[in-house]
Amino acid sequence: MKNYLVIGCSSGIGQAIFTTLAQEHQVTGTYYKNQPQKLPSKSSVHYLNVLDEDFDFSFIPEKLDGLVYCPGSIQLKPFHRFKEEDFIKDFQLQVTGAVKVIQASLPSLKKSEQASIVLFSTVAVQNGFNFHSLVSSSKGAIEGLTRALSAELAPKIRVNCIAPSITDTPLAHSILSTPEKKEANAQRHPLKDIGSPEDIANAAMFLLGDKSKWITGQILHLDGGIGTIR
Ligand SMILES: NC(=O)c1ccc[n+]([C@@H]2O[C@H](COP(=O)([O-])OP(=O)(O)OC[C@H]3O[C@@H](n4cnc5c(N)ncnc54)[C@H](OP(=O)(O)O)[C@@H]3O)[C@@H](O)[C@H]2O)c1
Repeated sequence: MKNYLVIGCSSGIGQAIFTTLAQEHQVTGTYYKNQPQKLPSKSSVHYLNVLDEDFDFSFIPEKLDGLVYCPGSIQLKPFHRFKEEDFIKDFQLQVTGAVKVIQASLPSLKKSEQASIVLFSTVAVQNGFNFHSLVSSSKGAIEGLTRALSAELAPKIRVNCIAPSITDTPLAHSILSTPEKKEANAQRHPLKDIGSPEDIANAAMFLLGDKSKWITGQILHLDGGIGTIR
């Protein structure tokens, strides 16, 4: 049994990872606005807003075998309508928050034989899409952070990143709010489907576990083929 920490375990992809991990492992999770009501055994949850100036990180277990950072946003607008503050706020949520959590978790991760960190990017970093300048800027930084940290933390800690295309979670609600929108988004993908939280959680489970023990510094594209196939 291993020890994992899931930042943002109360919704979408983080919830699917948390639930799957808790079937076999000790899992600590955090929530922000939606406190989970029913918890699997061997798990605990704690309030965390990564935008707060001072976090209370006392909930981080003494030893950690893996960490997943899920908070993110998808704000889509023409570039000229974003303000400088929008970029700063988005960076704080998606990047600085991850940096602070990883720094606070390092002493615990270093106690593992081999620990694994999983971060999240988006298909819109490798590919240029209209109206994605905000999310692509922050997630581009996450991809850079993934590679830099994978070098700095090897060989004890592996660092990888998952870059999904549109996935059916509360974060994507406005894009997938009707059956017609879901179908149109599915049809844009060569595999004719949108992602499910479980699709992404399956890949995260692989990256967190021993079966990926020779993989670090990678960006795993889970995108129904849209990033590669024309
Ligand atoms: N869904 C997609 O289509 C998609 C596509 C590409 C990339 N991604 C990336 O995948 C990751 C997971 O996305 P998701 O769709 O599962 O998102 P989600 O459903 O919105 O879940 C985000 C999680 O982060 C927590 N969170 C939000 N703001 C926070 C804050 N300020 N401090 C601490 N925790 C906070 C939320 O907590 P509460 O619910 O308790 O507030 C929730 O548990 C994100 O990084 C996202 O950018 C998603």
